[in-house]
Amino acid sequence: MTADPSPDTPPAANLQWGGRFAAGPAAIMAEINASIGFDRKLWRQDIRGSLAHAAMLAHVGVISAEDASAITDGLGAIAAEIEAGRFVFDAALEDIHMNIEARLVARIGEAGKRLHTARSRNDQVATDLRLWVRDAIDGLDAQLAELMRALASRAAEHAADAMPGFTHLQTAQPVTFGHHLLAYVEMLARDRGRLTGARARLNECPLGAAALAGTSFPIDRAMTAAALGFDRPMANSLDAVSDRDFALEFLAAAAIGAMHLSRLAEEIIVWCSAPFRFIALSDAYTTGSSIMPQKRNPDAAELVRAKTGRMAGALLGLLMVMKGLPLAYAKDMQEDKEPVFDAAEAWALALAACAGMVRDLRPDTDRMAAFAGAGFATATDLADWLVRRLRLPFRTAHHVTGRLVARAEARGVDLAGLSLAEMQAEEAGITAEVFAVLDVASSVASRASLGGTAPANVAREAARWLAALG
Ligand code: ARG
Repeated sequence: MTADPSPDTPPAANLQWGGRFAAGPAAIMAEINASIGFDRKLWRQDIRGSLAHAAMLAHVGVISAEDASAITDGLGAIAAEIEAGRFVFDAALEDIHMNIEARLVARIGEAGKRLHTARSRNDQVATDLRLWVRDAIDGLDAQLAELMRALASRAAEHAADAMPGFTHLQTAQPVTFGHHLLAYVEMLARDRGRLTGARARLNECPLGAAALAGTSFPIDRAMTAAALGFDRPMANSLDAVSDRDFALEFLAAAAIGAMHLSRLAEEIIVWCSAPFRFIALSDAYTTGSSIMPQKRNPDAAELVRAKTGRMAGALLGLLMVMKGLPLAYAKDMQEDKEPVFDAAEAWALALAACAGMVRDLRPDTDRMAAFAGAGFATATDLADWLVRRLRLPFRTAHHVTGRLVARAEARGVDLAGLSLAEMQAEEAGITAEVFAVLDVASSVASRASLGGTAPANVAREAARWLAALG
């Protein structure tokens, strides 16, 4: 930060509004005001928007065809400069819009000064950020599909491999590993649905709303909207420049998506911990410890889990910025970009890391199957058998089974370790046939209800997803 210049050497007034202003801003004013440090990310969208605007201005006769073509060439050259890293971003020019406009004027002179006719930075920035979020959505949607593909193909591979299913993280009933993985496929499909919905609503064009009230020039907003791939122009100029719902919806989708990934990450962490050892991650997705030679830490999964914090924070942060803002634009809204950029970047990283880990992980299917049967996991199968074969009311069957579990526990055996006589001591009608429902494979196979964990269901669902994802 530089100190304020002395009063006899005032900084030069801003080029864009130098008519009204005799002097430039205080150093701290310039520093708090400038957004070029982060909004330079919008350069592609800004140039796209300006190209569409210039073509439209020429089409309706507000600027000449020659000026429009000079602007188009100039913007093309600026894009090449930025791409090549040769463009000098200047904080004194505040933001990406004025940096590019100033460079255009420097390159092509008078014609460049006509570009901002019938436009304001307010509709310009709203347009740029919508375009950016739309591109981000398309990229993230493809990444979500990729992770779904990875999960579904591992699910197909392990459609019949049993593992303990948990409630309260206590052994509940056996499920298959494939079924468990497909649960995440369903969540990610809803995440994509949220992005699709957000995209459909954001795809209206603010350009032409100008500062807030529209413009007296005979602009063609449908033309710029179409050129930029929007479905239509936004209907109300005040709304067009002050709405940030699209960014909030994106951040809400990101926060929910991150929450899903954090649950997957947490399970990966738990599953590869030493007491579980249900899965192993290779060297590619783990780190060692500088002091404990035996360690293999699932850092990528931990960081995926942690990203949820900043992504949910991004949503809350922008909600707080927008809350209570009077119409139309206020500079507060410049604070919309960093949370959006940050959440998009975090989501992309987390999705890529998850897809990598899902492909990488090696399940220990024997160990999972052994634990699937432990902890009286098939007690419900026994109760269901009592209902089906002996016509006991389910609540009675639950009590009988509970007493059998208590007996087995007291003897230190599992349910199948009880003798038929011991079973009959609790319920005289029990026959040897009951032992068939106590093993894990028949337990999972029997759960063939719609959405249930039966291997046949899981194989069918995995195949359906793989076909749908292409
Ligand atoms: N850099 C500003 C932003 O991101 C651009 C819009 C400025 N508009 C204004 N009236 N000062 O919001």
